[in-house]
Amino acid sequence: MKFAILTGIVAGPLVVLAQLNALAKDAGLLYFGTAVSPSDSSDSAYYKYENDVKNFGQYTPDNAQKWDATEPSKGRFSYGQADSIVSRALSNKMLMRCHTLVWYSQLPSWVSSGSWTKDSMTSVMESHISNVMGHFKGKCYAWDVVNEALEDNGSYRQNPFLKALGDSYFAVAFKFAAAADPAAKLYYNDYNLEYFPVKADGAVRIVKLVQAAGVPIHGVGLQAHMTVGRTPSRENLTWTLNKYTALGLDVAYTELDIRIKPLPSNASSIEAQAKEYVAMVGSCLDVPRCVGITVWGFSDAHSWIPQTFSGAGDSCLFDKSTKPKPAFSSVSSLLASASGKRPPWNTASPPTGAPVPTTMITATTSAAVTSTAAATSTVAATSAAATKSTA
Ligand code: XIL
Repeated sequence: MKFAILTGIVAGPLVVLAQLNALAKDAGLLYFGTAVSPSDSSDSAYYKYENDVKNFGQYTPDNAQKWDATEPSKGRFSYGQADSIVSRALSNKMLMRCHTLVWYSQLPSWVSSGSWTKDSMTSVMESHISNVMGHFKGKCYAWDVVNEALEDNGSYRQNPFLKALGDSYFAVAFKFAAAADPAAKLYYNDYNLEYFPVKADGAVRIVKLVQAAGVPIHGVGLQAHMTVGRTPSRENLTWTLNKYTALGLDVAYTELDIRIKPLPSNASSIEAQAKEYVAMVGSCLDVPRCVGITVWGFSDAHSWIPQTFSGAGDSCLFDKSTKPKPAFSSVSSLLASASGKRPPWNTASPPTGAPVPTTMITATTSAAVTSTAAATSTVAATSAAATKSTA
C-alpha cells in the first residue's frame, strides 16, 4: 500500500494525510484506535476524521459503558449512548474495545456506598457483568473486565469489590465475563504500569491469580497516560510489555496520550512529544503480541487532560484545530517504515511467543525510576477528577 506521508502542513489537494489504521495494519497490528464520545459529532472535522476506518480501526467509548452510565440504579440498565457508539463502529467496519466493568471510579452511589457481604456483592457483580456484556455480546472484540485495581506501589486498591470479596474478586469478575461473552478478549487494564515496575508486577500477580483459578484472561491493557519528559525508553517499555506476553497474554496500549506541562507548549516540548510517541508505538511494534494502540482522543480540543491535570495539556496527535502535529508525522513515518516487518495480525491464530526478558535495561532504569515521583503526583489528580466527574 502506498501513502504519501505528510510531514509538514496540509498544503493542498495533492497532499494525502497518512492514515494511521491502514499503516498500523500494514505494520502487523490489528488496529490503531481512538476513544470516542457522543459529543464528538459537534466538531465536524474531528467527527469526519474519526469515522474513516483508514484512520481508526477501533473505538473505545470514553464514558458510555461505565457502571454509572449502564446501571445507574440497581437492576435498571441503560445503553443509549453506548449503543450508538457500538453501532457506528460496526457500520464503519471497526472493532470495539469495550470499557469497563469492574472499576472503583464512576460507580453509582448505590454500589460505592452500599454495604455488601461477599454473597451480595458477588450477585451484584454477576448481574452487572452478565447484563452489560450480554447486551453487547458478539460486538466487542475485547472488554476491560477489571480496571485500575492497583495502587502505584503495587498493592490492591481499596474498593467495594476488594472489601467484600478480597483478592478473589479478580477471578470472580473474569469468570462471569467469560460466561457472558465467550468470544470476547478479556483484559486487565491499568495506568502507570509503564512507569512503575512494582505496579507492573502487581498486574502480573492479578493475572496469575486469575490463571490459577482456571479462569480465562487474555490480555493486559496499559493505559499509557504519559507525560512529556518522563516517558521511559522504547527498550524499557518493551521490557514491561514482555512481562505479560511471557504469561501467554496479549498486550495493548489502551488510552495513549502524552501530556505537556507546563503550558504553553513550545517547539522543543512538541518535538520531545513526537519522540516519545515514537517510543510508545515502537515498543508495541517490537512485541509480537502487542495487538494495537488506542489514543484517548486525537485532538487537543477533545482531550480529558486539561480538565483532569491542572496546568497540563496538548497531549494529542492533532492540535486544537485538528491539524497534525509533529507527533502525528513521526508516528506515521514509524508505522510506514515498519510495513511488512510483522505478519498481518490474525485473530484466529494470534502470534505466540515473545522474547522473555530477564532484567530491565539498566542504562535507562534510573530514568524510569526518577519519572515515578512526577507520575505519582498526577495519579491523585486522576482519581480526584474521575471521582469528581462521578458526582
Ligand atoms: C476518563 C474520561 O475520559 C473522562 O471523560 C472522565 O471524566 C473520567 O474518565 N482511565 C480510564 C478511563 O480507564 O476510563 C478514564 O476516562 C481515564 C483514565
